[in-house]
Amino acid sequence: MSGFLTVAGLHAGYGAGRVLHGVDLTVEEGEVCAILGPNGAGKTTLLRALCGLIRTTGTVRLDGADLPRNRPEAVARRGVAHVPEGRGTFAPLTVEENLRVGAYTRRDRAAVAADIDRVYGYFPVLGKRRGQAAGSLSGGEQQMVALGRALLARPRLLLLDEPSLGLAPLVTRELFEIIRTVNRDERLTVVLVEQNAHLTLEFADRAHVLETGRIALSGAADDVRADDRVARSYLGIGG
Ligand SMILES: Nc1ncnc2c1ncn2[C@@H]1O[C@H](COP(=O)(O)OP(=O)(O)O)[C@@H](O)[C@H]1O
Ligand SMILES: [Mg+2]
Repeated sequence: MSGFLTVAGLHAGYGAGRVLHGVDLTVEEGEVCAILGPNGAGKTTLLRALCGLIRTTGTVRLDGADLPRNRPEAVARRGVAHVPEGRGTFAPLTVEENLRVGAYTRRDRAAVAADIDRVYGYFPVLGKRRGQAAGSLSGGEQQMVALGRALLARPRLLLLDEPSLGLAPLVTRELFEIIRTVNRDERLTVVLVEQNAHLTLEFADRAHVLETGRIALSGAADDVRADDRVARSYLGIGG
């Protein structure tokens, strides 16, 4: 198998309820890969499966080696960062304390301080609000905190679960532009799960459409966007 992240025959679910029925997927190093699909298709479950939060069968390899099963901390140590649905920021902690949580396994204090400054470079508003409780921020700013916290782990692969949820379109666009900048500047591979297909396809390199636990379609983001039939039947775009 080639590719940076390779997923083959991945099955997963909750107890007796099976959700993923043999997902095959390849993500190349340095790309932004979109996972699209309707509510309930299994997008969140796929990210949970990739980062070891739920039981799976099948193969998940990162940079040529199998990722550990059912051990999220071991997966994180391999360089996989997950920003879950709903962000998971700590509301009573300040912005900067939230960022430090992302670096809790690191002992290189000077490098952590430099990385926090780098996050403030990407998200200047967070620098201004560094001493404020995260819970007092807007939805978009909280999503920035969640992203920044993930970056503090110095990941090689960033898994983002519906960062646009609850955000106004302009805020989403701003957020996606920063994700693109981070992806380019740090050669960080990004898997971006979204229901907001139209905007996501503007930013992604490739897209995979998940439908009832299987990949129904894969292609270059531009091709997926240009295909009317695909747009209508899978993505709810167009007439
Ligand atoms: N914690 C859970 N326990 C049981 N079933 C779940 C759980 N989370 C999700 N599911 C079910 O798994 C299916 C896929 O959900 P999910 O992965 O959240 O889809 P998506 O993120 O694409 O909306 C749905 O039928 C959902 O009800
Ligand atoms: Mg979801």
